[in-house]
Amino acid sequence: MAVETVIVLAAGDGTRMKSSQAKVLHSVAGRSLLGHVLAAVDHLKPAQIRVVVGANRIGVEAHIAEISPSATTVLQEKRGGTGHATQLALAGDTPRGTVLVLAGDTPMLTGQSLAAFLDAHSAGKFAASVLTAEHPDPTGYGRIVRDDSDELLRIVEERDASEAERVIFEINSGVYAFDGAKLAGAIGQITDSNSQGELYLTDVIGILKNAGESIAAIMLEDFTEILGVNDRVQLAESAALLRDRINDHWMREGVTIIDPTTTWIDATATLAKDVTVHPGSAILGLTTVATGAVIGPRTTLTNCVVKEGASVLESIATDTVIGEAATVGPFTYLRSGTVLGDSAKAGAFVEMKNSTVGTGSKVPHLSYVGDATIGEGSNIGAATIFVNYDGVDKHHTTVGDHVRIGSDTILVAPVSIGDGAYTAAGSVITEDVPAGAIGVGRAKQRNVIDWVLRKRAGSKSAQAAEARKKKG
Ligand code: UD1
Ligand code: CA
Repeated sequence: MAVETVIVLAAGDGTRMKSSQAKVLHSVAGRSLLGHVLAAVDHLKPAQIRVVVGANRIGVEAHIAEISPSATTVLQEKRGGTGHATQLALAGDTPRGTVLVLAGDTPMLTGQSLAAFLDAHSAGKFAASVLTAEHPDPTGYGRIVRDDSDELLRIVEERDASEAERVIFEINSGVYAFDGAKLAGAIGQITDSNSQGELYLTDVIGILKNAGESIAAIMLEDFTEILGVNDRVQLAESAALLRDRINDHWMREGVTIIDPTTTWIDATATLAKDVTVHPGSAILGLTTVATGAVIGPRTTLTNCVVKEGASVLESIATDTVIGEAATVGPFTYLRSGTVLGDSAKAGAFVEMKNSTVGTGSKVPHLSYVGDATIGEGSNIGAATIFVNYDGVDKHHTTVGDHVRIGSDTILVAPVSIGDGAYTAAGSVITEDVPAGAIGVGRAKQRNVIDWVLRKRAGSKSAQAAEARKKKG
């Protein structure tokens, strides 16, 4: 069903996080806590979203502008409680239709559950509904107090609860649906007569009940969806639960995950069927992995595009495109702006950044490739270094098609190696090499005969050399 207004409460100090960063900006599964809540809310396509901000306001506002630009923010200068925050969000208006209020610190909530909750709320024509769940350890949460006929009476906070109320397992998720007019009528009646001296939004439920309105507690099957994050222990718990949820999803979509407990896939990443992920891997940000690709073990991909059948073994890549059937690793570091063509290779102990490697070209061992364009079918010999930085500026190197760069070549940029050209092993290349030429840039070798016998007389080397000479 349609929801007119969504109010997200995100002004809290997050004291229990003990952080210089706003609580709602802490992230799990690649999104801030607030980002998860706004993604779930987005599923409802509400007419307007108002986020109440306060603590670390500047950072939170900038974040909202980035991830949910259509949302408006409302400033809560002093933390007066969830009821106070809701009063500010309403700004004295009487909103039309249904108002959904929820907290910015419940990252597990899904859009589907919110939609089902709103459907139940509107089907029952309730003045107010609260989303609840039975939690095996309800410590810290508000408890749902029901009467003898199981009807919702009110919500009591843990610190204000009696002994008898504390053993209630049904908890308040902090997600509420209100008839806008009824909420506007009741929100002014709440008081701060509780142990924290705050205005509790939860009190609106009891006020409406006392006024004879019909209110409902709508229970969710899966209590993990409503877990709130108040400290770093809960942050890690939510991260682990989200990890499992995301991994289960991809396995059901046809991805093989060898060890789901050590595989961390962000909510924002996508994987195709018949991808295999080996243990200890993280697939982060907006990374996409195409069918048949093999990732890991111990690989971290951030904002990468991995094409069909590619393999990335024991490596780290960021903002990188890995072509079809390309191979990466082990121990490869691909930095921002790397584009590996189809069937290209970036092998062991290779670092690359801001470079394009053409179809079938290989950089197999121990190289640094920075600010380069490499054509097709070329081979970059072991230990080649692209010297892109003169201490002041970065310069570009161009390598053509079917080039053979000899091992241990130093390519001092800006420099260009023509199609089909070679460089001699150990060369320092400072001048362009034309197509089809070989660039040789090294001192001519000379041998100083018997130097060891004279200068290292009696050493094992000298003895070995003498023995060899005697044998002739
Ligand atoms: C709240 C509920 C509790 C529920 C729990 C679910 C109240 C009084 N209690 O408790 O019943 O079980 O959530 O997670 O509502 N906030 C503001 N301004 C404020 C105070 C809080 O914007 O002045 C925001 C916080 O940023 C947070 C949310 O409201 O996102 C909830 O506040 P928090 O302090 O975390 O409430 P809980 O103690 O968890
Ligand atoms: Ca909370």
